[in-house]
Amino acid sequence: MAGQIPKGFIDDLLARLPIVDVVSSRVTLKKAGTSYKACCPFHNENTPSFVVNAQKNFYHCFGCGVNGNAINFLRDYENLSFNEAVEELAKLAGVEVPRDERVKQIYDNQKKIADAAEYADSKYREALKSHPERRVAKDYLSKRGLSDEVIQSFGVGFAPAQKDFLSENSNPTIIKGLLEAKLVSQKYERPFDLFQNRLMFPIRNMRGKTVGFGGRTLGDDKAKYINSPESPLFHKSSEVYGLYEVSKALRSIERLLVVEGYMDVVSLAQYGIHYAVATLGTATNNENLTQLLKRSKTLIFCFDGDRAGLSAARKAMENLLPLFEDGFQISFLILPEGEDPDTLVRQEGAKQFEARVDRALPLSEFFFQIYSEGLNLEQLEHRGVLRSRARELLDALPKGTMKSGLWDRLNELTSSSRFQKKTDRKFSYAQRDLVENKVLRTQDAAICVGLYYAPEYAKALSLVKEQLQGCDQAIQLSAYIVEHDHKNQEDFLFSLATDHLGFRDQFSAMFSRLERIPSEEDAIEELKFIVQRLETKKKRDDALRATKLKTLPSQLTVEERARVQSVSSKAAE
Ligand code: UTP
Ligand code: MN
Repeated sequence: MAGQIPKGFIDDLLARLPIVDVVSSRVTLKKAGTSYKACCPFHNENTPSFVVNAQKNFYHCFGCGVNGNAINFLRDYENLSFNEAVEELAKLAGVEVPRDERVKQIYDNQKKIADAAEYADSKYREALKSHPERRVAKDYLSKRGLSDEVIQSFGVGFAPAQKDFLSENSNPTIIKGLLEAKLVSQKYERPFDLFQNRLMFPIRNMRGKTVGFGGRTLGDDKAKYINSPESPLFHKSSEVYGLYEVSKALRSIERLLVVEGYMDVVSLAQYGIHYAVATLGTATNNENLTQLLKRSKTLIFCFDGDRAGLSAARKAMENLLPLFEDGFQISFLILPEGEDPDTLVRQEGAKQFEARVDRALPLSEFFFQIYSEGLNLEQLEHRGVLRSRARELLDALPKGTMKSGLWDRLNELTSSSRFQKKTDRKFSYAQRDLVENKVLRTQDAAICVGLYYAPEYAKALSLVKEQLQGCDQAIQLSAYIVEHDHKNQEDFLFSLATDHLGFRDQFSAMFSRLERIPSEEDAIEELKFIVQRLETKKKRDDALRATKLKTLPSQLTVEERARVQSVSSKAAE
C-alpha cells in the first residue's frame, strides 16, 4: 500500500521534519560534532553507538546495524505500519496525507474501528468511577488489592452487567465501529455487548492507543477471561499485554519478564516491577517474540510449576530456538506449583520475587532439564531418548554460539565414557575382561547387544531358551521383548526407557559394562549365528531325548532311526 501515497509527498515530509526532532522527542540525544549520539533504543548497550546524522537526515547504529529515515524510525520504535508512520509524521508537520480513494476507504474503516475501541475504553473507565453498579468491580479490585494508582496507569475499567452498555446513547458511526471491532454483536436485531459484568484490561499498542481488551469475569462465568476477537485493528497473536506500559514506565528496558496473566502484569507493576508483560492467553509465537526481542534481548519467561505451565514453557522454548541469535539472553523461571507472580509478589514482596527472577534458569540449562525429564542418563537407552528428543530442535537452531554449545553439551551428556568409571566400580568382576579385552564378550552380552539392535530375534531365542545356560540376562531380555511384543528397535527402546519394573536398570547395567558396542551389522550377524547354533543344538537334544525315551534301538521305527543318525552326524560336524 506504500505506493498509494505519492512519493513526492513522502520526500517532502521527510525533508520538512528533521530526523533529529523526530528521534529526540523519544530518545535523549547528545550532540557529538555534527551528529547526535545515544544508547541505541533497539538493543541493549551501555555505551552509545546510535548516531543520528542531521545533515544526511538518517540514523545508524554501529552496534546492531539498524538504520533509516524518520519513517523507519517510527515504524521500529513505535511498532507502526508504514501508513501509520507517515500519518504520524504528517500530524507532526500539520499536513493532511493525500490518498487515493481505495486507500482512503481502508484507512477510514481502520480509523472507525480504532475510534470505537477508544470510545469503549473511555466508557469502561468511566463506569468504574460513576456507574451505579460499580460497587461490584470496586469491591473485587480491593479484594485483589489493586491500588488506585495502578488501576489508573493500566486504564483498568468496568463493563457492567448490561447488554447495551456500549451502544446506548452512541452515534451510528460509533455503533458501526463497535460492530466491526466485534465489541458489540447483533442479537435479535439488537446490539449485544461482548463484555458484560467484567473487569476490563485495555490492550494498547505502542502509541498507547487501545486496540482490544481482556475482560475478567466478576461473576462465575465459565470463561474466566475473554479477549477481543480478531479484527482489522486487533491481532491477538501479535499483541503483547503491558509492553506499552513498560515503555512508559522505564527509560531503558534492560529485561522483560514474560508472565501468563493480565493480573500478574498489573500486580507486579504495583510492586515496582515494571518490566513484566503477558501474551494474551496464547503460546508465545513468532510474532510476539519478535515484538519482545525488538525491545529487549534479555527475556525471562515465567510459568506456573504445574503441567500446563511446564508445557507452555516448553512450547515457548521450542518457538524461540529457531529465532535465536548470539546476544540473546533467555531464561526460564518456573514458579512453585499453585502460585503465580501475582500471588507470590504479594506473599513475599518485590525483593524476594526479583531474587527468583535473577536465579531463573538460562535457556541452555532449561533445555536439558526439559528434555531429560523422566530420564536417567546413566542408562544408555535414556541417553538415546535424550538425543532423539533434542536433535530436531538443535538442527533448527541458527548457527551460533548457542547451537554449538548445546550440541557440545548434548554430546557430553550422552557420552558413555562419562558413566564408565562409576559402572566399572559397581561391576568389578568384569574389570579384568574390560582391561584385557576392552570388550566384554560373553555370550550373554553378545545376545543382549544383538537384541538391542534386532529385537525381532527374541521369539526365536525364547524357543531355544533351555540351550542358553549361563545367559540369564539374555533369557530375561528375550522374554521381556516377546511379552511386550516389540516389533522393532524403536518400540523396544521406548519401552525400556519408560519401564518401571527395573528391567532397564538390569539391562543397561550390562550394556554399560561394554567398553565398545559392536557395530549394528556385527552384532546382528553374531546374534544370527548364535541363534542358528542354538537351534541346531536344540534339534539334536530333542532327537536324543526321543531316543532316550525309547532306549532300545529295536523299539525305534526305521524313520526314527534315520533321523537320529542324520541329526547326530550334522551336530558332530
Ligand atoms: P490465569 O487463569 O492463570 O489468569 O490465566 P490470572 O491472571 O492468574 O487470573 P486471576 O488471577 O484469576 O485473575 C492466565 C491468562 O490466560 C488467559 C488470560 O490471558 C489470562 O490472563 N485466559 C485464562 C483466557 O484467555 N481465558 C480463560 O478463561 C482463562
Ligand atoms: Mn492469578
